[in-house]
Amino acid sequence: MKPDIIRIAQATFTVSSLEASKEFYVDLLGMNLLHEENDALYLRGVEDREWTLKLEKCGDGEVPRVRHLGYRVRCGECLESLVELAEKQGLPYRWEEELDRPKMLRLQDPFGIPVAFYHEVKTYPWLLQEYHQHRGPGLQRVDHCNVRVPDVKATLDWYGQELGFRLSEYTVDEAGDYWAAWIQRRGGVHDFALTNGAGPCLHHWAYWMPDAMSIIKTCDILAGARQPERIERGPGRHGVSNAFFLYIRDPDGHRIELYTSDYVTVDPDFEPIKWLRDDPRRQTLWGAKTPRSWFEEASPMEAFDGGIQPAQEGKLTGIPVHVI
Ligand SMILES: [Fe+2]
Repeated sequence: MKPDIIRIAQATFTVSSLEASKEFYVDLLGMNLLHEENDALYLRGVEDREWTLKLEKCGDGEVPRVRHLGYRVRCGECLESLVELAEKQGLPYRWEEELDRPKMLRLQDPFGIPVAFYHEVKTYPWLLQEYHQHRGPGLQRVDHCNVRVPDVKATLDWYGQELGFRLSEYTVDEAGDYWAAWIQRRGGVHDFALTNGAGPCLHHWAYWMPDAMSIIKTCDILAGARQPERIERGPGRHGVSNAFFLYIRDPDGHRIELYTSDYVTVDPDFEPIKWLRDDPRRQTLWGAKTPRSWFEEASPMEAFDGGIQPAQEGKLTGIPVHVI
């Protein structure tokens, strides 16, 4: 049986200061603080019924990193089939217990990405219509992750064949090799995006926003707080996914995307959309150039036995188009 993965559902980052992270994520972005214990903050958007981002204090001298990316699966048997897959392919795995998630399977995929899977979770009433409790620009729900990987095609093939991910959009270079891919389980454009480059590293973690104005309001809030340097790219309109977007950097440099207005991909005859790497409309329909930091910087990922997963160079080379 193939594991039935529902969607990307949570991530755990380590951070150097819980105080600075709380100011950024709770005071400025208005995320709901569901728990504050175990030297960690457990955050969610107003539509999330469980925590979707855990920020854990990292050890002294440790580099802030991504501990894992988490997916919710349909059933307990799905976890067993993931164990079978890990054993068959020799992937390291272990069971972990997490706050509100009593049984979580953590494994390392063949590309070194730390992933966690769970079925059981304690949920909480959502805040979607508790408008009087909304704070900041109104982050709504977890949307997707974007990981930089050395071999996009191999990663895409494994997630498709073994975990049943479906392709919604992809970019090829001049030679026809896969430069980037957007894959999904949930029926949106993506739960998981793959981009060519040194990795594995987390490029960004994204929240869905109710509308474009809430994204613009984020810029106003960060400017009002005298922290415009947190705004890295956008707001703008992506060609890929059609999303209205903004990229911001947290106090440790973890990149968060605020994202809205993509489309559904559930029809059985949906044809994946192909882009050429040198098409400037791919990155932004409006033609705005992308800062170099957006291509060059990303969060390291934790190795299975601790420490940082060593990054390998991207298989494809080339200068990204439209860089300022
Ligand atoms: Fe994204």
